[in-house]
Amino acid sequence: MPKFVITGGHKLSGEITVKGAKNAALKIIPAALLSEETITIKNLPQIEDIGKSFDLLSDLGAEITLAGDQATINPKNINKIELQAKLADKFRTSVMFVGPMLARFGEVKFPHPGGCVIGAGSRPIDLFLEGFKAFGADVQEESGKYYHVKAEKLHAANFFFPLVSVTVTESLMMTACLIPGRTVLNNCAMEPEIEALAEYLNSQGAKISGAGTPKIIVEGVEKLKAGIFTVMPDRIETGSFAIMAAATRSEIKITNCNPEHILSLLSVFDKTGIAYEKGENWLLIKKNNGYQAYDIRTHEYPGFPTDLQSPYIILMSQAQGTSLIQETIYDRRLIWTDMLSQMGANIVMCDPHRVVVSGPSKLYGKKLMSPDIRAGIALVIAALIAEGTTEIDNIYQIDRGYEKLDERLKNLGAVINRVE
Ligand code: EPU
Repeated sequence: MPKFVITGGHKLSGEITVKGAKNAALKIIPAALLSEETITIKNLPQIEDIGKSFDLLSDLGAEITLAGDQATINPKNINKIELQAKLADKFRTSVMFVGPMLARFGEVKFPHPGGCVIGAGSRPIDLFLEGFKAFGADVQEESGKYYHVKAEKLHAANFFFPLVSVTVTESLMMTACLIPGRTVLNNCAMEPEIEALAEYLNSQGAKISGAGTPKIIVEGVEKLKAGIFTVMPDRIETGSFAIMAAATRSEIKITNCNPEHILSLLSVFDKTGIAYEKGENWLLIKKNNGYQAYDIRTHEYPGFPTDLQSPYIILMSQAQGTSLIQETIYDRRLIWTDMLSQMGANIVMCDPHRVVVSGPSKLYGKKLMSPDIRAGIALVIAALIAEGTTEIDNIYQIDRGYEKLDERLKNLGAVINRVE
């Protein structure tokens, strides 16, 4: 299993370019199932989960052509209604294939999806199933491991999300595109990736309004035509690199990004005294000589993203003072902080949803294991600050979200090596 070996203490400088957003690209690939015409995707990040999505789509019968960061998908000959367990149970977003398949074929069989262990149990899919039932589908479960969703005739629905969910909002929005009638989705997530997905589907002929607000209305259409989608810059990469620059007290320019998508983080930078400049598609984090601690509470967009909570804890471990970090979205996203304590950080876990971080702490290199994508990038940032050498195992988890991270960080002057 490859690992990162990182020697800390080196100042970073220069420019880093943000790749296409993982969480936008992962929805566009299953969206291809809604049409019989070829779609083109540009600015695709080259990361593990994208490869897995293509494997799944290709197994269903789609023809996929890849060239660098561009892909074309011809879904015309898709002829299967079953997501193979050995492909689908490896990543959470395999569940995003279900809605479009149900809308196109009226039937889908699929296993419980895999993915990061950051939520309750194996991360529930109950809300997806509730949504499919609201569209008139019958859902049969085999002890929560395998599902069979089938409908004689799907109908439009009026659905209220009991909790705000990004992927379920996207899934039901996609499914409703091909269901006759007017579907109204209430209490929707408002992430920019949802708006981008809706804009794209509309460009293919869908009739979606309100995406990016809590109420989305979809008027079903008979079919969707060909389309071209350019994946937006990854806002979590942008935020991770901004935190990395600030925590290592380096000056770094982050390019090909949209600073408007991380205003929650930048407003916290304003409070802590971390200086930055920004333009339409770039962000310059200025070198600092120290900054203050500040409390955060994760929240659905446009609040502070749970996906930046782990890197933020590293930032606070280097701040002056004490901060309270509250994780409100996932049940198990603070457990990894134990590894940071082993490196020398002063962190007290109050309960599974809250930690108190006191800084600044000197960090020391250790042998660690990356538990999930975001804790993984946080450990990389900690290793860049730490005295000595850190080994991070299980970097497969980091590769799932950050394309060629080692090469890109080397360009900034980091001493990081991938050891097979
Ligand atoms: N939930 C349920 N039932 C469901 C679905 C979700 O109880 O059927 C719960 C989850 O367990 C969680 C809460 O709802 O407690 C909210 O999770 P949500 O469904 O919004 O998360 P998601 O849609 O599965 C997306 C991103 C995550 C990101 C969250 C929150 C994708 C592919 N994933 O997940 O990204 O953390 O929204 O913003 O879009 C990551 O990139 O590292 C990552 C985990």
